[in-house]
Amino acid sequence: MSEIIFIGVAWPYANSPLHLGQIAGAYLPPDIFARYHRIKGNEVLMVSGSDQHGTPITIKADQEGKKPNQIANRYHQQFLDSWQKLGISFDLFTTTGTTNHAEVAQNIFLTLLDKGHIYKATVSQPFCPHCQRFLPDRYVEGTCPYCGFIGARGDQCDECGKPLNAAELIDPYCSICGTPPQFKDSEHFFLRLSDFRERLLEWVREQTHWRQNVLNFTISYLEGGLKDRAITRDIDWGIPVPIDGFKGKCLYVWFEAVIGYFSASKEWAKSSGDEEKWRSFWQDEEKSYYFIGKDNIPFHTIIWPAILMGYGGLSLPYDVPANEYLTIEGRKLSSSRNWAVWLPDYLSRYEPDPLRYLLSINMPETGDTDFSWREFVRRNNDELVATYGNLVHRVLTFVYRRFDGCVPTPGEFDSHSQALLNKAKDTFNMMDELLYRCHFKEAIKLAMSLAQETNRYLEKKSPWEVIKEDRQAAADSLYTALVVISCLKTVLYPFLPFSSQKLHELLGFEGNVKDDGWQLRSPSPGQRLLPPEPLFSKLDEELVEEETKRLGLPES
Ligand code: MF3
Ligand code: ZN
Repeated sequence: MSEIIFIGVAWPYANSPLHLGQIAGAYLPPDIFARYHRIKGNEVLMVSGSDQHGTPITIKADQEGKKPNQIANRYHQQFLDSWQKLGISFDLFTTTGTTNHAEVAQNIFLTLLDKGHIYKATVSQPFCPHCQRFLPDRYVEGTCPYCGFIGARGDQCDECGKPLNAAELIDPYCSICGTPPQFKDSEHFFLRLSDFRERLLEWVREQTHWRQNVLNFTISYLEGGLKDRAITRDIDWGIPVPIDGFKGKCLYVWFEAVIGYFSASKEWAKSSGDEEKWRSFWQDEEKSYYFIGKDNIPFHTIIWPAILMGYGGLSLPYDVPANEYLTIEGRKLSSSRNWAVWLPDYLSRYEPDPLRYLLSINMPETGDTDFSWREFVRRNNDELVATYGNLVHRVLTFVYRRFDGCVPTPGEFDSHSQALLNKAKDTFNMMDELLYRCHFKEAIKLAMSLAQETNRYLEKKSPWEVIKEDRQAAADSLYTALVVISCLKTVLYPFLPFSSQKLHELLGFEGNVKDDGWQLRSPSPGQRLLPPEPLFSKLDEELVEEETKRLGLPES
């Protein structure tokens, strides 16, 4: 029976290129998961889009003397290009700048207002007398009241990580002109989050399949009490508050961005030709997964579920497998200090699968992990090339040369061959289970250990020697190896889609590797192979120094 899987992926702010921390944390995992479910024959809808609103975009626009939409469009195009090159297979990657999204977000706002989950209140907001404007979140800077860091922002201190209110900052100043702000009254709408605390707690406590860190964080957050939150801002770049008298105010970027999961599903349905098709992913027997980095947890386990509960009729998240952080060369990643590896840079110099491999086998699933260029080269050369790539290339070239370019016909499998085939089957089943539960790192490790085992098997069997006396014995062991290789191209497909497709073709299979489904498909004796080509290339050690040098330099 096929399953219905909704996959929501964190919406990146369209104000800077993507970096590897985001890829390891939020973008590669859902792609692995989506590919796994698609090859299993399940129905998948994977959506996300550029988060185009809010102060992250306007600040960048101010810095460059551009309009916010120019910034948003530029990065949106870049994101699309990156997804394509890295093979992140969204069913739809839209933006929060569409009319559809604005309509859906405003509609949800009005429904919540109607049902009493949103109320109006007057709050005191920082206002810059020099710029003559209210200063939202990040436009106020000052000294952090908790750690004393100078340059903390009005929404959060980057040094100690504490969320802040602009009013808490010591010696606050306007980040545009440096003038100390005044505080002025302004009317805003609040989401009555406090009302949802019990319901949320009850619901979250049942989610025993969630990752421990996500579950613990959410429960302790809720136990600490839930405050109502302002969901509108004094800013003109965003989705207007759909109420008279609120000119110059917009929906808070976080409130509307999470609604993107739903509006994108509607957009996808419309463009598929069946406007109602979104329903099966939101109101049916589906399971919905939200892939995010850990800084986004409360928005997906508390605020978004509260909005959904208040709105009614839509399914709550089934799982939120948030990842931890990726450090770079042992240090915390920092965009502003350019201590980051930018995805477009990576993709302009290297192939996608080696990165997908490294970030999968080193995924920050249960704790932070580190990216280093040395590790990148080592894993590529010693594991991808030496263990997996060479296994494939050695077998394919030998078979191609000595068996007329065709899959040999096996006789009886001896116990050693049988044992390897059983291991392949076990690997296949265990990976199935692990992928289903979003344990990606463990899953890919199993595939690699199967490749290793197959190398040992071939050392032992040594068909390249044996063939001189016993052609059938060589055919048997080579065929066995081909069966395992064929298994590897299937189980590694979610992780390494490009090389799996290539291997699929080299083995003489037609069409797309995905269309064969999640099955142990043995090549047929006599099946014609394509002329062998290596799946991966060795990387030069020198790149380690070259790349490491780029880190932390001012951006060119
Ligand atoms: N743009 C925000 C971030 O990158 C929010 C992403 S998730 C969303 O942290 F669903 F809320 F959009
Ligand atoms: Zn100012």
